[in-house]
Amino acid sequence: MSKQKVSIPQLKEWKEQGRKIRMVTAYDYPTALLVDKSEIEVILVGDSLGMVVLGYDGTVPVTMDEMVHHIKPVVRGARNTLIVGDMPFMSYNVSLEKAIENAGRLMKEGGADCVKLEGGLAMVPVVKALVDGGIPVMAHIGLTPQTASQLGGFKVQGKDEAAAQRMLTEAIKLEEAGAFSIVLEAIPAPLAKLITEKVGIPTIGIGAGVDCDGQVLVLHDMIGLFDRFVPKFVKKYANVSEDILTALNAYAEEVASGSFPAAEHSFTMKDEVLKKLY
Ligand code: KIV
Repeated sequence: MSKQKVSIPQLKEWKEQGRKIRMVTAYDYPTALLVDKSEIEVILVGDSLGMVVLGYDGTVPVTMDEMVHHIKPVVRGARNTLIVGDMPFMSYNVSLEKAIENAGRLMKEGGADCVKLEGGLAMVPVVKALVDGGIPVMAHIGLTPQTASQLGGFKVQGKDEAAAQRMLTEAIKLEEAGAFSIVLEAIPAPLAKLITEKVGIPTIGIGAGVDCDGQVLVLHDMIGLFDRFVPKFVKKYANVSEDILTALNAYAEEVASGSFPAAEHSFTMKDEVLKKLY
């Protein structure tokens, strides 16, 4: 039986039932088809595509056009999976009008079911404006890669009492602003557990321990397709790079030796037709 797309209100019910939410990133049609065939309920078309697909050093250069371009094929490939479109850096920070316009683009042009944006207290008015405008918002706190330089790099957040207290307040305020879920990235597991207990909306962890209501990983990290930078919290479930490299070298050798293409990969024609050509 094919799976049914989960609804946003259902995710909250799952939290109440203790049923875990499974989310992974995807950025193109073939991987979207695969995720759609799997048991995973939510796809994030993350701005991590800047690093793992487009080869940027971080997520800051990613544009709205690039996000829309990648959301579209994912939507076409994953009809039965909830699709979250990530708002790129500076697409929601300039003004509320711009934020609504850009979030609207991810849904209207891209076809995403909802959007995600990074940030804590400063983003409360933005989340409220988007939700009031009818746009479902997933928040994202802790290590927020778009502002990693402000945070002192890609490191664990919320380790001291003040930072942990601030993060708890952020989660509560973002829920009050109307966010339907919150990603918690790279924070101590006990703090993620506390936040998960204190908010009524589902938390989705990445490097935030096992007690979150769900988990998310970057697809290219978990299948071993990108290894320029692999954070400690990533578990590699496959080593696709190795398989691809083996296939590429086998192909290269067979072309060089003339064993590819073989007869079964070639087309023939009638001898009499050929003879006339000689
Ligand atoms: O862009 C992304 O892939 C993300 C996840 C790391 C949560 O924001």
